[in-house]
Amino acid sequence: MTSLLRKLFPLTLAVLFFAVQGASAPAQPPQPEAQPPIYLGTAWYPEQWPESRWDADLDLMQKAGIRFVRITEFAWSSMEPEEGVYKFDWVDHAIADAAKHHIFVVLGTPTAAPPAWLTQKYPETLRIKDNGRRDEHGNRQQFNWANPKYRELARGIAEKMAQRYGHNPNVIGWQIDNEYAAESYGPDVQKQFQDWLKAHYGTLDNLNQRWATAYWSQTYTDWSQIPIEEKYGNPGLLLSWKRFVSDTWRSYQKNQLDVIRANSDKRQFITTNMMGWFDGYDHYTVSQDLDLASWDDYVRRDHLDPYINGATHDLTRGFLRKNFWVMETQPGFVNWRPVNTTLDKGEVRAMAWLDVGHGADAVSYWQWRSALNGQEELHGTLVGADGTPVPVYNEVAQVGKEFAEAGPALAGTSVHSQVAILHSYDSRWAINWQRHNKNFDPVEQIMSYYKPLRELAQSIDIVAPTVPLSSYKLVVAPGLEVLTDEAAKNLIAYVKNGGHLVLGQRTGMKNGDNGLWPEREPGPLAELLGGRVDQFYAIDDKPEDVVPVSGTWGNTTSKIWAEQLSTSASDTKVLMRYGKSNGWLDGQPAAITRKVGRGQITYIGAWMDDATMLKAAKWMTETSGVTAAFGPVPDGVDVYPREGDGKKVFIFVNFNKERQTVKLPSTMHDVLEDKDENTVSLEHYGVAVLQAK
Ligand code: GLA
Ligand code: GLA
Repeated sequence: MTSLLRKLFPLTLAVLFFAVQGASAPAQPPQPEAQPPIYLGTAWYPEQWPESRWDADLDLMQKAGIRFVRITEFAWSSMEPEEGVYKFDWVDHAIADAAKHHIFVVLGTPTAAPPAWLTQKYPETLRIKDNGRRDEHGNRQQFNWANPKYRELARGIAEKMAQRYGHNPNVIGWQIDNEYAAESYGPDVQKQFQDWLKAHYGTLDNLNQRWATAYWSQTYTDWSQIPIEEKYGNPGLLLSWKRFVSDTWRSYQKNQLDVIRANSDKRQFITTNMMGWFDGYDHYTVSQDLDLASWDDYVRRDHLDPYINGATHDLTRGFLRKNFWVMETQPGFVNWRPVNTTLDKGEVRAMAWLDVGHGADAVSYWQWRSALNGQEELHGTLVGADGTPVPVYNEVAQVGKEFAEAGPALAGTSVHSQVAILHSYDSRWAINWQRHNKNFDPVEQIMSYYKPLRELAQSIDIVAPTVPLSSYKLVVAPGLEVLTDEAAKNLIAYVKNGGHLVLGQRTGMKNGDNGLWPEREPGPLAELLGGRVDQFYAIDDKPEDVVPVSGTWGNTTSKIWAEQLSTSASDTKVLMRYGKSNGWLDGQPAAITRKVGRGQITYIGAWMDDATMLKAAKWMTETSGVTAAFGPVPDGVDVYPREGDGKKVFIFVNFNKERQTVKLPSTMHDVLEDKDENTVSLEHYGVAVLQAK
């Protein structure tokens, strides 16, 4: 064929096809295109650019394998430039243009950035900051999440959008608002909080008794006396405020979610983009009405830490206990850290595969291209200010190609773990309000268990303490300081049904009101344990302060915190003991365990180093029959199992600077190379996707 004919040929075919269709086939409603099992995406802001530019952007996206764009989450002033005046044409066009490039759309409701006309006309919708001053227009998140007028206006724009796009075949889902974070502290919110307290406590007598308000004459004789406290209040008050904040975010979200659901196809999911370990509200509370959990995944320090990042995915997967989306991630670097270093070449791709390995079904870059003005001009993007690709574009395009190749193998698969780590916002808040040792970071405490357990089991769930636990061989609660009655019952039942429960420091110290359990730690679990914490001690970080510990898991020291344990049942065994230190701890139990029927309960009162925690984790997995999801892997290589639909897939990423070779236990199909293998060789940041045969 001549080059001219080659160019004309598809066109001729297309003309012929439409001619035939036009002649015989009845008009068909547009059918949704098949969705890819794993999505690559990007945040795109068409409202910042002339329409004449869009096709060039979408073309570049399509070439990179991008299959969805998230749009409109900050576009309120472009969609409703004046109250009641709507401009949706441009959104129609953006969705239709994207469809031409086989790019689906997630629509964001624009409520994280109310327009100037709105807050000018309804100043009561602006939030009162914690310094007592009203926020103003010009940034974002300036709204009051509890304000009825704001909710009415937010519901209005969400409803209009849902009515227009709820049945659009190219719209696959909705993101409500963006990164919930900012509360309001004015008298209107205080009144709502007091009403919330009334609904939860019923009577002031009950509240006074449960908060022990006789302490410092805090006794309330009228609901209107109860203040808002975020940091230094009565612990019952502090925890109630956080629960109120969480419930209020939930109802803020439901206000929009209900109108979207009422006006959209079931196939369209509803999510919101959360922020990993951020603890501004209880994510379990807020997630429960969503179809899908998603989060914005930015590295904490300069580089990807596979453990921290992996644990954050596992946390997010635990919100609804199923696969989730990475709604935003960095194309190299961000603009909001003190030094915005970039990920290395290859690291962006490694990160995308780590995400998928932990159960992400989508990875979406923030953002496609910087606005030519605005607060985030220097943030990483996929194309530059000139609209042509920046260096990381090619790496993202490789990810796009690979997601397409691996899609069929990964379709219908998810992460299944034998080990659960329990996590609760109540406990993290409670510890942070009264750390007792400034170095007691509850997330680091969780990580000290997560790291060795992940290394051994190769897959961990992080879930709330009230979820069904019977499918787990091992359940670990590193720092469940607030142990509610409901959670305690769940844990007791788990052990009685044959599970192995391991408790870490501070677990069961407080009840659901953030008050002390009179039984001492682990409170309602002490009887089952046949032992308890006699006393806790904060340990300073001077070399002479460290406390020696030795026993089943070798010789080590306890830092930060040490609990003096005792046993009350004859069959409770001591695993570790403290050595000579402050006198109180000398020779006392540091870790104890008891078999209860087919089950087992263990308490660890020391904060031990990584090497010892690895030994402890080995003991935990061995005594509970936990097996590695894959088996031995070379140093620095991570393996992520996903299974389902009769398939078993292992994703490998090499974080070791040296090339590593993974021996497979049997011949597997290398999905990206499309050939069978018995070993795979991985360079630094190298990735392989293997499907068991
Ligand atoms: C001071 C106060 C007490 C108590 C102690 C705690 O002495 O007077 O009420 O707060 O500190 O150390
Ligand atoms: C958050 C926001 C985005 C953007 C990015 C920048 O995730 O949701 O709008 O500001 O941070 O990293």
